[in-house]
Amino acid sequence: MSALSLSTLPERVKVCEMGPRDGLQNEPGIVPAADKIRFIDMLSATGLGVIETTSFVRPNAIPQLTDAEEVMAAIDRRPGVTYLCLAPNMRGLDRARAAGVRAIAVFTAASEAFAKRNINMTIDESLATFSGVVKTARAEGMWVRGYVSTAFGCPYEGRVPVENVVRVASALAEMGVDEISIGDTIGVGTPNQVVDVAGALQAQMPVERLAMHFHDTRGTALANVVAALQMNVEIFDSSAGGLGGCPFAPGATGNVATEDLLYMLHGMGIATGVDLERVRDASRFMAGVLGREVASRTYRALEADACRVPA
Ligand code: COA
Ligand code: ZN
Repeated sequence: MSALSLSTLPERVKVCEMGPRDGLQNEPGIVPAADKIRFIDMLSATGLGVIETTSFVRPNAIPQLTDAEEVMAAIDRRPGVTYLCLAPNMRGLDRARAAGVRAIAVFTAASEAFAKRNINMTIDESLATFSGVVKTARAEGMWVRGYVSTAFGCPYEGRVPVENVVRVASALAEMGVDEISIGDTIGVGTPNQVVDVAGALQAQMPVERLAMHFHDTRGTALANVVAALQMNVEIFDSSAGGLGGCPFAPGATGNVATEDLLYMLHGMGIATGVDLERVRDASRFMAGVLGREVASRTYRALEADACRVPA
């Protein structure tokens, strides 16, 4: 039997949209709040169940997202859509709570150097901070996600041992985080690594709580998704158009594009509940705002078809 046995892959996948946060935080220019709001509202109409909307972080850490309150107040929140917001500390949680946020994400890393640069904490300090944040958020009935960045490699430290990923992810799981997203922040991972990391994590926690967050910096993101599917992972992060990168990871490009992920999954017979054409519409709107083409290959193919003059 072939190693890639389609019959054993998940029948359905949850797609978590990262464009408004992971995407727009790395744009050199600051997108006006009104355009962010329109983009999020368009994404809300696609069938996506989770949209990472903005961040309640230190304003000078991420100047692109200082309008978090304004954006959360103005978006049209649809029932059934989770509007996820980053909140790295109590101050972030307080701001999120005041903005009526019902789902937050805490974020740390599998490498010390990245954690220090991104959140100015050691990994253990971040876990100590998050334990209070997660406890309070859960007591108020919020849904909580946890991110482990640099799980497949660090821009400052290079190779990251699988044990480090497992240690940090397990600590988040024990804290009561509902879902843990394992990030290839700089897009260095390869499918064999995905199998190793996903396998090691599944020895510690149920696969239903695991998400994979791939960046496509070196073109391996979709191959990594297939490897993760084979390991029964059912939750993937992606960004409309492939927007994004990371201000603390120079040269990193965006998440795997939502359009590319949907095209592949739907072609494999895996349901997502998300309308690819509507995601494309949202990306087209944002491409207009940014004044440039977006990275997604499927987006470009769809746009080329739309422009084709019939014979
Ligand atoms: N929202 C707004 N302001 C915040 C804040 C938050 N969540 N957390 C801290 N601050 C403010 C404090 O009020 C304080 O302000 P003051 O100097 O006017 O008193 C100042 O920031 C310093 O606070 P401190 O607790 O020392 O934070 P820090 O400087 O060590 O920064 C983080 C820690 C986590 C807040 C900051 O590194 C950060 O926001 N990082 C986010 C990076 C990010 O989003 N990366 C992309 C996602 S992968
Ligand atoms: Zn990311």
